[in-house]
Amino acid sequence: MKNILNAPFLVEMVRTATNMYSHGWDERNGGNISLLLNEADVAGYLDVNSVIREIPTGFDAPTLDGKYFLVTGTGKYFKNVQYDPAQNLGLIRVTNGGKTAQLLWGYSDGGKFTSELPAHLMSHAARLAVNLDSRVVMHCHPANLLAMTYVHDLDTRAFTRTLWQMCTECIVVFPDGVNVLPWMLCGTNEIGEATAQQMHTARLVVWAQHGIYGAGKDLDETFGLIETAEKAAEIYMKIALLPRLNTITDDQMRQLARHFGVTPREGFLSE
Ligand code: 13P
Ligand code: ZN
Repeated sequence: MKNILNAPFLVEMVRTATNMYSHGWDERNGGNISLLLNEADVAGYLDVNSVIREIPTGFDAPTLDGKYFLVTGTGKYFKNVQYDPAQNLGLIRVTNGGKTAQLLWGYSDGGKFTSELPAHLMSHAARLAVNLDSRVVMHCHPANLLAMTYVHDLDTRAFTRTLWQMCTECIVVFPDGVNVLPWMLCGTNEIGEATAQQMHTARLVVWAQHGIYGAGKDLDETFGLIETAEKAAEIYMKIALLPRLNTITDDQMRQLARHFGVTPREGFLSE
């Protein structure tokens, strides 16, 4: 068996968590990541028949039965993932229609997966229904996106349009826009279901006064989505109190969409 600490998926997960911490997106235990793995990726590093323990999830996710995920642990600090991956991360296999997670590696201090597992797994199921290449769900607390949810209309179209207007590349990077959920109690199946519902139409979902969820095909793409939205929110928070003399017009956004071959979310640009 090869050493799992050298597995490319584990190395990339550790680097990503460290980078997210460095960006200030994950204070204390804030944020969580889940990465969908193939059994073939895992098999060279672990005996997949050796289950350390079984942990109930408290919800159903029948389409994910038998799937493997590398998931950050609840209460764990992103700052510390690099120093002790085995304690701060866990590799689970979903079984029993989603009701049970079989721990195959990690959570070495007796811990368990993030309290936001419902939002993660339900979002994986939603994104896989749209795009079979989707492998990552990422949640964090970037300051400017969070700040924006205190001062900006939470309507999804209005919020998306403002972000698109803040940097030329935004409409190219997230043409599907950003869906916004009102404040809800976190760590519950209800917020998980609401997030997954929003994930059918966009890869970014803002939780008002809390943070953001991103979904993508790999860790880099998902990080980049959140990074771009957060940059746009930063610019908004710098200019919101100033008179706006210029903007990116809808016509310019249409030119961008044509040039880069993306389709802006239906109805989000004015006629
Ligand atoms: P966990 O420590 O359970 O992952 O929770 C962090 C968080 O961001 C909750 O929304
Ligand atoms: Zn959170």
